[in-house]
Amino acid sequence: MDELLGKLKLHDLNSGAFVAGKWLKCSQQAAVLNPACNVEIAKTTLADIDQMDIAIESAKNISRKWALVPAPKRGELIYQFGNILREKKDILGSLVALETGKSKKEADGEVQEMIDMANFAVGQSRMLYGKTMHSERSEHRMYEQWHPLGVVGVITAFNFPVAVWAWNAFLALVCGNVVIWKPSVKAPLSAIFVTRVFQQVIKKLGYDSSIISLLVTEDERVINRLVESEDVNLISFTGSTEIGREVGVKVARRMGKSLLELGGNNAAIVMPDANLLQVIPAVVFGAIGTSGQRCTTLRRLFVHTKVYKQVINSLIDAYQQIIVGDPLDDSVHMGPLIDQKAVNDFSNIVSSLDKEDILFGGEVVEGDGNFVLPTIVKANMNLKWVFEENFVPILWVIEVDNLEQALEYHNNSKHGLSSAIFTKKIKYMEYFLSVLGSDCGIACINQSTSGAEIGGAFGGEKYTGGGREAGSDAWKAYMRRQTVTINYGNKIELAQGIDFNK
Ligand code: UN1
Repeated sequence: MDELLGKLKLHDLNSGAFVAGKWLKCSQQAAVLNPACNVEIAKTTLADIDQMDIAIESAKNISRKWALVPAPKRGELIYQFGNILREKKDILGSLVALETGKSKKEADGEVQEMIDMANFAVGQSRMLYGKTMHSERSEHRMYEQWHPLGVVGVITAFNFPVAVWAWNAFLALVCGNVVIWKPSVKAPLSAIFVTRVFQQVIKKLGYDSSIISLLVTEDERVINRLVESEDVNLISFTGSTEIGREVGVKVARRMGKSLLELGGNNAAIVMPDANLLQVIPAVVFGAIGTSGQRCTTLRRLFVHTKVYKQVINSLIDAYQQIIVGDPLDDSVHMGPLIDQKAVNDFSNIVSSLDKEDILFGGEVVEGDGNFVLPTIVKANMNLKWVFEENFVPILWVIEVDNLEQALEYHNNSKHGLSSAIFTKKIKYMEYFLSVLGSDCGIACINQSTSGAEIGGAFGGEKYTGGGREAGSDAWKAYMRRQTVTINYGNKIELAQGIDFNK
């Protein structure tokens, strides 16, 4: 660990406030614990309210200058940073694994997601397209153009401590905005490292490093300052539905824009004709990846009666082979939960269940870390937990008689993020994708609910918040649209055929 921290140039105490181009001293600090043993990795300082005010002020001041840099040049900055991320993939992946507890394989995948996002954003910087329209008036032309919003606040969660920032920040920056980042205090070291490296690239290219800022804090007053400031044009929030709802209301009250990426209670349906060689690995990765702490984690599995026993047996067989342990060990599939609170949540749920319904796992692993066993539970639609997003590796398996019933159960959830069906039949696939099918933002055929590619728009409906990030046209959320009408004639002709002179 010390060797890794040395390579990353992280010290016992690290500033968690990069504001107005400087790393600031703060009076408060917090320890970052290694979830695999609850030993301190290092400390971060915590930003205060005055520092947040300075961050917002300096972001606002620099935003015009950055907006005037041509978009492809802004893309060049992300290109250069993407190259550094390629070099640092291994050590940054190790840091992500160390502080979040996700396996090294997944942590490296998270850094890869940043690199992919950088590639995407660089291309996007030359494709901030607007449409042109044919005017109904003679000698008129219409088109729409997109301008930067100004200041974008990005609030991220512990489970994806760097990739989710990259989805937002890379697009926000190529779209001409400046970015203020509030990472999770549970996993701030990767954010500190990424900000340090990025800031060097910004300087090297001759830009003002206050186009990005970082404020590690858990103080609600400090966070509210960001959320409630009229100088922050967009708040992108990733986290729980409970807090996201508050954020959404606060931003709406001041007529700001928000982009909410909240919880998911994701489900997959297994039809009788499904290829089990696809089902089992996809379900296992979806359910235990990041120890059940992805917002795309597979939590509910609806299995057709005809294959129910077979699926359960194969799943138990696969779960027996899962290695739970130190996330930095290459052979490990599942690391610890983020903290003891998460372990308690797991215990509370498991202790309320009938023992015979626990088909696998259901135990906390004794020791200093936050380890639990990946768990499979035979469930039904009367069980209250099935309707909640529990951020732990528990898979609820429910037997269904047909696709209609499976879909009724599937959509009977407050959340609407990710969904999947396993089948070879086009009829089932198309029904699942039809208006009567999955009501989620992400729908997968013969693939896991979790591990979405950055090329598509990421996000979901209902309690998931409705925001879309990363690929497709998600960039539009970071810009304001202006509809332009140009009269190049010599007279005034009104729309809708109105003649004001008669
Ligand atoms: C999250 O859990 O907040 O689709 C993001 C996935 C990842 C992103 C998850 N690409 O699982």
